[in-house]
Amino acid sequence: MTIESPWWRDAVIYQVYPRSFADSDGDGTGDLPGIRARLPHLAELGVDAVWLSPFYASPQADAGYDVADYRAVDPVFGTLDDAAALIGDAHELGLRVITDLVPNHCSDRHAWFLEALEAEPGSAARARFHFRDGRGPGGDLPPNDWESVFGGPAWTRTTGPDGRPGQWYLHLFAPEQPDFDWDCEDVREEFRAVLRFWLDLGVDGFRVDVAHGLVKAPGLPDVGVAARDQVKLLGVRPTPYFDQDGVHAVYREWRKILEEYGPDRIAVAEAWAPSQQRVARYVRPDELHQAFNFSYLTTPWDADALRAAVDDSLAATGEVGAPATWVLSNHDVVRHRTRLGGGLDRARAATLLMLALPGSAYLYQGEELGLPEVVDLPDGVRQDPAFGRSGSAGAGSGQEGLRDGCRVPLPWSGTTASYGFGPGAASWLPQPAEWAKLSVAAQDGDPGSTLELYRAALRLRRGLPQLGEGALEWVDGAPEGVLMARRTAAGAVGPAVLVAANTGGAAALLDVPDGAELLLSGGGEPVRGSDGGTLLPADCCAWWAV
Ligand code: NOJ
Repeated sequence: MTIESPWWRDAVIYQVYPRSFADSDGDGTGDLPGIRARLPHLAELGVDAVWLSPFYASPQADAGYDVADYRAVDPVFGTLDDAAALIGDAHELGLRVITDLVPNHCSDRHAWFLEALEAEPGSAARARFHFRDGRGPGGDLPPNDWESVFGGPAWTRTTGPDGRPGQWYLHLFAPEQPDFDWDCEDVREEFRAVLRFWLDLGVDGFRVDVAHGLVKAPGLPDVGVAARDQVKLLGVRPTPYFDQDGVHAVYREWRKILEEYGPDRIAVAEAWAPSQQRVARYVRPDELHQAFNFSYLTTPWDADALRAAVDDSLAATGEVGAPATWVLSNHDVVRHRTRLGGGLDRARAATLLMLALPGSAYLYQGEELGLPEVVDLPDGVRQDPAFGRSGSAGAGSGQEGLRDGCRVPLPWSGTTASYGFGPGAASWLPQPAEWAKLSVAAQDGDPGSTLELYRAALRLRRGLPQLGEGALEWVDGAPEGVLMARRTAAGAVGPAVLVAANTGGAAALLDVPDGAELLLSGGGEPVRGSDGGTLLPADCCAWWAV
């Protein structure tokens, strides 16, 4: 690998959701020793890096995105020694490790917030958060009209030591997640130290949670948009609490810290902004390395829409010299097998299309098994704080705003729950009985399985620089509903890679050059006719060497 092409520019990064990956002690919740024991699965899958969702000390009000101590591992997940051992083992297997960093807010059990609650209005302890007096008679109304992403006002009122209502504090997410005030130097200094703490422990980088949220507009002005409509502005229109220009100074500082540790340490932004150009500002050369591509994730299975999303992403990231990234599933959205609406074939085709695009791709645990969203979890077992607050379920697959359905623990082996997730039957969310057929053991070695398709795709991608960061050239004249592109790489020896994905409702006749060698296909198989044409089934994606 040359200096011009560092590892992360075309890396495949696999998201582990620790509570649902593998449970070593049988308490029904996944943990770090469980992940450690299953690292060989990831090495065999062929990914380059693992991103771990939060495993820090936390009351788990938002599944660990409410951090009480940024330097400690929650006992439910293990110990700091387990984290160090996991990083060490991953490195031995050639896997890099990216940890989640949650800088926009902490837990309401964080020492600083407890101190702030005890402190007087206007004190230094309160200045680390956004405490304000309420509006209206008696300060009974929230300080402004901001709405929490999880629904309801973004402000909660405190109660003073005398039992009387006090100031309000800001939380863009759950009330248990108070927002830090990034104008406060203590906060900036603390996160510089937290970065160094984990870099010293050996992590290869960070996934930055709510990277677009740290800095708020001066004076915390009203949005002027009715409650429940504000969430819909996320990534669509500017708001005074997201994508403020002031966030970029923070990332310039962090880039310098990462570079002190060498060129291989990276950070990826979870940044929602109104345009791809605004998102690309987070990955300018002196800021973060990558940003998630939510615009690609939210694009329907439609050739024209996908082509526009790809072009837009490549143009925006190209302008700042960053690699594009691609993602179809994560712990916050309906799994793409279900979301795209076309079952397993479409999900496999979508994956092959994504893995053929230039740049870096993110996979979410379980998609390599073709897991569907669990859409029928009983209300009583759901733990997502957005459930019950957002009232946003109903559209599309009926799972929007319900994030438990993509977080059900993985099936590894066996025919009874917990399907090898842990030593016993316990799993913090119930697993569907049909998942026995989807377990790693059930798919391992079966050439028709989704697992073997992912393994084959990642193997090819590794061996073919054409499928790395190189050029993408659309092939014009493809039948309606079909995306067709040629991938080449500067200096790559060997043929180009031709990629075709059929998003239409029927098989399509393609002009694939004579002598093309089929490398891989997902969601079906292309058939070469005697007249020289190639029939690509609906919901199929194929790669050829041409
Ligand atoms: C984004 C994370 O992906 C999500 O799971 C979490 O609820 C919010 N940020 C708040 O931290």
